[in-house]
Amino acid sequence: MTKKINPLWGGRFKLDSSALLKKINNSIDFDYLLAKQDIKVCLVYAKSLKKAGIVSSSELKKILNGLNKISDSIKKNKFLFNADYEDIHMNIEMALKEDIGDLAGKLHTGKSRNDQVATDLKIWIRENVGEIIKLINNFQKVLIKKSEDNLFNIMPGFTHLQNAQPISVAHYFLAFFEMFERDKKRFKNLLKTIDECPLGSGALVGTNFYKIDRKFISKSLGFNKPTNNSLDSVSDRDFAIDFLSASSILGMHLSRLSEDLIIWCSSSFSFVSFSDALSTGSSIMPQKKNPDAVELVRAKTSLLYSNLMSLLTTMKGLPMGYSKDLQEDKIPVFKTYETVQLILLVMCEVIKDININKKQMYNSSKLNFSTATDFADWIVMNLGYTFRQAHHLAGKAVVMAEKKKCNLFELELDDLKKLDSKISKKIYNFLDPHKSVENKKSEGGTAFSEIKKAIKKAKTKIDYKR
Ligand code: ARG
Repeated sequence: MTKKINPLWGGRFKLDSSALLKKINNSIDFDYLLAKQDIKVCLVYAKSLKKAGIVSSSELKKILNGLNKISDSIKKNKFLFNADYEDIHMNIEMALKEDIGDLAGKLHTGKSRNDQVATDLKIWIRENVGEIIKLINNFQKVLIKKSEDNLFNIMPGFTHLQNAQPISVAHYFLAFFEMFERDKKRFKNLLKTIDECPLGSGALVGTNFYKIDRKFISKSLGFNKPTNNSLDSVSDRDFAIDFLSASSILGMHLSRLSEDLIIWCSSSFSFVSFSDALSTGSSIMPQKKNPDAVELVRAKTSLLYSNLMSLLTTMKGLPMGYSKDLQEDKIPVFKTYETVQLILLVMCEVIKDININKKQMYNSSKLNFSTATDFADWIVMNLGYTFRQAHHLAGKAVVMAEKKKCNLFELELDDLKKLDSKISKKIYNFLDPHKSVENKKSEGGTAFSEIKKAIKKAKTKIDYKR
């Protein structure tokens, strides 16, 4: 082993770390992504040291200048992340030392990597959650546009994937709009809970007599307030779990939408088709056009779940205080962000591009006696029966239609009168899918009038400036 002892904590060590320890201990391969946030934290901390009288004005100038130079070289992709320096904090500290000498060591007075890394990660999540909210917003715009374009198009609404009752195609897309609206809220809530600054908590107990102004630090880093308890500040990663959880739920919604589209583009359904630009072919079957894009959105959602499970599992057995296990929190967070960003962008393209086969959807909306409930409702309203009695009568009409191999609305009035002589021809008006949709005027129902209101309301929830 060479004698190249760790410059940050090597004081009490006689031997250099083994190659294997370095391999398992190093995080620079992934936490280099925190470079921007780490420098931001260092800049503010340096200023707080000046306020505390630990560095002089000229020292502060040198430190800030040095940090800004590092920041520039990172931005220009010129900074060499060195695997000998285990993580991003040490890389930046050592680069600063190379530039301004031992003064760099002053920057770390009263500061631990434990409070620093928690702060870096909170800032990183905060910044990137903003991007996710923007992408959800853009996706919602696409859903609104699709709803407007398909307001009067009719499709079967399903329960158990069996035709249940007709709905407007817009109603379908707006259901997803609502789900993504709640996703957006989950991310916005996360921005509230993450808004406390851990910096100034030291390794676990707080700082000594240095008079570090945590309110100043918190404010300068854009947080609402400093965290309340130094031990909690360095120990927990619930904010990262919140991020992974909100991302998993968002993924679940995207995956369900994908699943529908996969079913809908099958030749048996033929409700939708994708353009060539968003389909793939088969290397053996020349005729194939496959919906790989949405299949991969569905598959990648499993990665979001596993990232959530991974961090939850890492955390569940940790004793109070910092443990090195916490270093692994960044891998799921970064990977989840990258995945969420990708699948949101892909789904945006898919929904924009998708071709709706109106005729097929409409024809299918008539299948499986989809207006049998309307039949029963008409009987309740016009013949004064209870819904259960009306349901029974409608069931008999279905059996009759099944026997005659026709639809409910194709039954002769004479046949219907055999079920109940009071049934009149007016009932036919209620058996048409279009009429059926039109009548669902309860708040939030699929009636065209309700959907128009829903679209108007949805538009108020969208930021059109983004
Ligand atoms: N790279 C470490 C992490 O990400 C920084 C904190 C190191 N703290 C320590 N006590 N070894 O968690």
